[in-house]
Amino acid sequence: MPTVHVDLGARSYDVKVEQGLLVRAGEAIREAGLKGRAAVISDETVAGHHAQALLTALETAGYTADLHLVPSGESSKSMARVEQLCSSMAAAGHDRRSFVIALGGGVVGDLAGFVASVFYRGIPFVQIPTTIVAQVDSSVGGKTGVNLAEGKNLLGAFHQPALVLVDPLVLATLPDREYHEGFAEVIKHAAIRDAAMLADIKALDPATRDVPADLIARNIAIKARIVEVDEHETKGVRALLNLGHTIGHGIEASVPYGEMLHGEAISLGLRAALQLSEKHAGLPADQSGTILGLLQHFHLPLQLDPAITTERVMEKLGRDKKFEGGKVRFVLLRAAGDAFVSAEVTPDDMREAIELLRTKA
Ligand code: NAD
Ligand code: GLY
Repeated sequence: MPTVHVDLGARSYDVKVEQGLLVRAGEAIREAGLKGRAAVISDETVAGHHAQALLTALETAGYTADLHLVPSGESSKSMARVEQLCSSMAAAGHDRRSFVIALGGGVVGDLAGFVASVFYRGIPFVQIPTTIVAQVDSSVGGKTGVNLAEGKNLLGAFHQPALVLVDPLVLATLPDREYHEGFAEVIKHAAIRDAAMLADIKALDPATRDVPADLIARNIAIKARIVEVDEHETKGVRALLNLGHTIGHGIEASVPYGEMLHGEAISLGLRAALQLSEKHAGLPADQSGTILGLLQHFHLPLQLDPAITTERVMEKLGRDKKFEGGKVRFVLLRAAGDAFVSAEVTPDDMREAIELLRTKA
C-alpha cells in the first residue's frame, strides 16, 4: 500500500493510503502499536456515512471504542466544543491511556487533534481524513486548533498524529462542491514542488471520485517533505504551503461566512499569486496558464465577485498573520514546481493583483 513516512524523529509517523482502508482501520492501528481505548471524534454528517464501519473495524481488531459527535461545519472549531468533548471523554472513562481517532474533514481533524493535545496533557491521536483537503493537507503536519471570534486558528498546538489512514473510497459521499474545492490544495502542492504532477491531476475526471491512491500519496509527500524540514514553521520553508493563501484568506474573510468555500477563495488567491509570480519572479505565462486551466477543470472560480471591493480584501488580509511586522512575505513561483518566499511584493502590487481578478481568466 502507498505509505508516506513523515520523519520527525520521536514524532515520526506513517500516512497509509489505500482504497477500502477504513474497514481495515482497526488492524492498521493495531499494527502501528496503539494501545488502550479509542475515543472516535466525528461530525454528524461524516458519522452518518462512515462511523459504523470504523467502529466495527475497531471492534474486530479488539479495541473498545466510543463515538463523540459534534455538529458539522467550521463553527465546531471552538473552545466550547473542546471542553464539551473533553468532558464527554472523561465521563466515558477515558484517561491518559486512551487515544483519539479523528474521523472527518479538516474541522474534525483540527478539533480532535487539539483535544488530543490537551486531554490529560496530551494523548496520541489517529487521523482518518474524509475530505480531499483533509487527506492531502490538514491531516498531515500536526497543526491542530480552534477558532476565536477574533480570527481563525488563533488557539492551537503542534501535535503530530501517531498514524494517518487515508481511504479514497470515503470521498464517494462527499458533495461535489466540497470535492472540487479540495483540488485547490492538491493543485497548490503540485505547483509548489512537483510540476510533473500537474499533468496527472489534469487526467482525473472531476465528475467521478476516482483518485488513485498513488496520486494522493505523492501529493501528501510534498507536504510531508516540507513539514520534515520546518515542523514548527520557523524556517520559512513551511510558509511555502501558503501559496495562494495570503490574498485567498483576504477574499475568504471578505464574504459572509459560508458563502465561499475555502478552496474557492484559494483558487482566486492562486490566480493572484500566479499573476504576481509572472511579474516578480519570471514565471512563464504558459505555466501559469496550465495551473489556471487545472483550477477551471475542477470548476473552481477565477473571477472575483464585483461586490467584493479591493479595499475590503486588503483590510482583511492586513490582519492575516502572514503580514507580521508590516512586512509582506509572499509565496511566488519561479516556475511550476519551484516556489519561494519573496519580500518583493508590496501592498500596491497586491491591490493590482486583486483588481486583475475582476477580468476574465
Ligand atoms: P470540513 O471538515 O468542514 O468538511 C466539509 C463538509 O463536508 C462538512 O460539512 C463535513 O461534514 C462534510 N464531509 C466531510 N467528509 C465527508 C464525506 N466523506 N462525505 C460526506 N460529507 C463529508 O471541511 P474541510 O475542507 O475538510 O476542512 C476545513 C478545515 O480544515 C478548516 O477549519 C481549516 O482551517 C482546516 N485546515 C487545517 C489545516 C492544517 O494544517 N491543520 C490545513 C488546511 C485546512
Ligand atoms: N496548511 C498549511 C500547513 O500545514 O502549514
